Amino acid sequence: MATDQQSSTATADGGVATGSETLTVTDNRTGKTYELPIEDNTIRGLDLRQIKVDEDEFGMLSYDPAFTNTASCRSSITFIDGDAGILEHRGYSIEQLCERSTFLEVAYLLIFGELPTGPQLERWVFDITHHTYVHEDLKHLFQGFRYDAHPMGMLLAGVGALSTFYPDAKQTEDPEERYMAAVRLIAKIPTLAAFSYRHNMGFPYAYPDNDLNYSENFLSMMFKKTEAKHVPKEALSKALDVLFILHADHEQNCSTNAVRGVGSSDVDPYSAVAAGVAALYGPLHGGANEAVLRMLRRIESPDNIPDFLERVKGREEKLMGFGHRVYKNYDPRARIIQQHMDEVFEATEYNPLVEIARELEKRALDDDFFTSRKLYPNVDFYSGIIYEALEIPTNMFTVIFAIPRTAGWIAQWMEMKDDPEQKIARPRQIYTGEREREYVAIGDREGPEKIVGPPARRPKRPRRGA
Ligand code: CMC
Repeated sequence: MATDQQSSTATADGGVATGSETLTVTDNRTGKTYELPIEDNTIRGLDLRQIKVDEDEFGMLSYDPAFTNTASCRSSITFIDGDAGILEHRGYSIEQLCERSTFLEVAYLLIFGELPTGPQLERWVFDITHHTYVHEDLKHLFQGFRYDAHPMGMLLAGVGALSTFYPDAKQTEDPEERYMAAVRLIAKIPTLAAFSYRHNMGFPYAYPDNDLNYSENFLSMMFKKTEAKHVPKEALSKALDVLFILHADHEQNCSTNAVRGVGSSDVDPYSAVAAGVAALYGPLHGGANEAVLRMLRRIESPDNIPDFLERVKGREEKLMGFGHRVYKNYDPRARIIQQHMDEVFEATEYNPLVEIARELEKRALDDDFFTSRKLYPNVDFYSGIIYEALEIPTNMFTVIFAIPRTAGWIAQWMEMKDDPEQKIARPRQIYTGEREREYVAIGDREGPEKIVGPPARRPKRPRRGA
């Protein structure tokens, strides 16, 4: 409602805001002044709707492509202070969690809001450990993929297919179904991930081993050959567990937003998480660590770094693993990974790409182009080097990211489901196209002769067999 500088005003949800916690907006088109309530340093988009020139018009919208300055929810799961380089889950710093916790305990913390007691953790770990098998029909689904199918594409299909095996998960309000979906997703995603790798390698799929912990079991399903039992080196499974903790959640990023957006239609959680896997597949999100490794290999030697950085500054290249929408400081996750690199290299062969990465970081951080834009290493800059040391192939990196992020997606999905303010996600648009055109018969149409379609000849991928 327009006011003459009044000190209280109606809010979009029917409440009344008082005092100085308001924003005064004057519409210079009409001269009217509006007072918009401020809560948590935020104004409600819907409060703009009252601003209009004519009573019968729709009202003002905010325009925010890519949600660069829009909060889409209230959340108590993950806190990030991007300027200070702080990351906390449910109030616990990522440094403490990496030092003292395990991935499954952090998954519990994210989903249920508190660190578990001894018996709670025991039950949680038992439940996850005893749901790691997937239905044999899922194995057949994997066998249907081409030998060179990208493992992330296979994982995406596998997670989506889980919904067909657990149709009761559609009862999204049922706490028992929610719990089972959380357990099954966290338990089965390493199995599906390992199947995708073994499919590429032409190896028989390896089944889970319930004697092993979460990260040991994953490495066993990846690398088990003819031996009866595969127990990975402790330094490696511990490093992987830390990487899992580091990737468990990161508030409203592209894939989490996808999970919440798709989940807001009340679809089952497997389908919502599959949307997260799809979003993570993109090179600007989860695919970045794969791109970092390719970049480091292309640079080949520290001597080529100056030329490479010149190309980045000339916009011919992007420095992958640098920059972040939220962190305008060193990503705290990148710092923790750096600390674990030496332990991993003691247990594995030294990777010469480390030298290139460290020199590249040093030179970029000495260069005004990067510092003036607040571009620092993000989590993906070093994670790929550790994955490579664990002998995980490059195209599996995003798959490894999806394993722990599943815990965060579920936590965010549950929070969204319980939030009374959430509805089906449905942004507005500013329509820029034509209006009210008269349909033209095909013979009467005029326009360029160019036929829109794919290029006549496409490069062929090699096929195995006939
Ligand atoms: N290399 C070179 N220039 C960059 C880079 C980069 N990696 N990142 C940003 N810039 C430049 C960008 O060109 C722009 O310059 P100008 O203002 O002169 O036009 C400026 O820095 C601001 O960048 P932006 O594109 O507005 O930043 P954004 O918040 O939209 O993008 C980002 C964030 C992560 C997509 C981007 O930094 C990027 O593409 N980085 C490389 C890919 C990468 O490492 N992604 C992993 C993100 S961390 C994993 C996760 O949490 O999901």
